[in-house]
Amino acid sequence: MDWDTVTLDHDDGVTTITIDRPDRLNALNVETLDALDEALDEAEAQDTRVLVVTGAGEDAFVAGADIAYMKDMGVEAAQAYAERGHAVINRVDTFPAPVIAAVNGYAFGGGCELALAADLRVASERAVLGQTEIDLGIVPGWGGTQRLARLVGDETARRMVFFGDRVDAEDADRLGLVGDVVAHDQLDSFVRDMADELAAKPAFALRTAKEALDQVHRTNLEAGLRYEKRVWSGLFGTADQEEGMTAFVEDREPEFE
Ligand code: COA
Repeated sequence: MDWDTVTLDHDDGVTTITIDRPDRLNALNVETLDALDEALDEAEAQDTRVLVVTGAGEDAFVAGADIAYMKDMGVEAAQAYAERGHAVINRVDTFPAPVIAAVNGYAFGGGCELALAADLRVASERAVLGQTEIDLGIVPGWGGTQRLARLVGDETARRMVFFGDRVDAEDADRLGLVGDVVAHDQLDSFVRDMADELAAKPAFALRTAKEALDQVHRTNLEAGLRYEKRVWSGLFGTADQEEGMTAFVEDREPEFE
């Protein structure tokens, strides 16, 4: 597949999708959202055990939704843009394998929301994140009002959304907005090592773990615990369960499917 604003690289179970519109700091216009959607199709069609999402160029992960495009939108166009953004970002959230956001620079507005939809966030020390919409006269519209508080807690989310603060990597780490901060030139190799380690784990069990952990945000404790019991027992009899436990008993490293 060939897109102008997104690239996809697949290597040994690790698929990397790069938002590639550096002259606009990788801002997500409709064309880029559509390309990302198709790239996610492609990533699902491949044997993707881990998905990495990042931005092209030296400056930005994704600087947000496209402000030039939004400037003259009316309510109807805004509804359509919100639908599109939500649909694509939800696909990242529910992607059937772990997703790592390699936050290599600015991640504002829709860029921060894209990172929030990943399972894990690794930031370059140059990263700056924020839900900055308030200073454009709007609010986060691609999931930020919901996913941010679930990640960093209500007080921090309210502060970030109300003040539109731009949070540097160190503060993002302190707030729990990202899980690691690494030197800018180490980001790719750090994320690749992390992805390779995850890619070697049993894929179906990992997917099950992701879906079970997601229940924390989707249901109540009782239903979540019921869900866990069901999927836990459903893993017994899989090739990876047999291999994992046999390898332990035989005192050797497991080799998963
Ligand atoms: N939408 C559309 N275009 C954007 C954009 C966005 N979200 N973010 C940056 N751009 C464009 C700029 O307009 C500029 O275009 P130009 O070269 O035609 O002037 C180009 O990308 C480079 O950005 P610039 O502002 O010149 O770079 P900078 O290094 O001085 O500042 C930022 C970088 C990220 C701090 C600044 O661009 C910014 O604040 N962007 C908006 C972030 C935001 O509020 N996002 C939330 C949107 S919901």
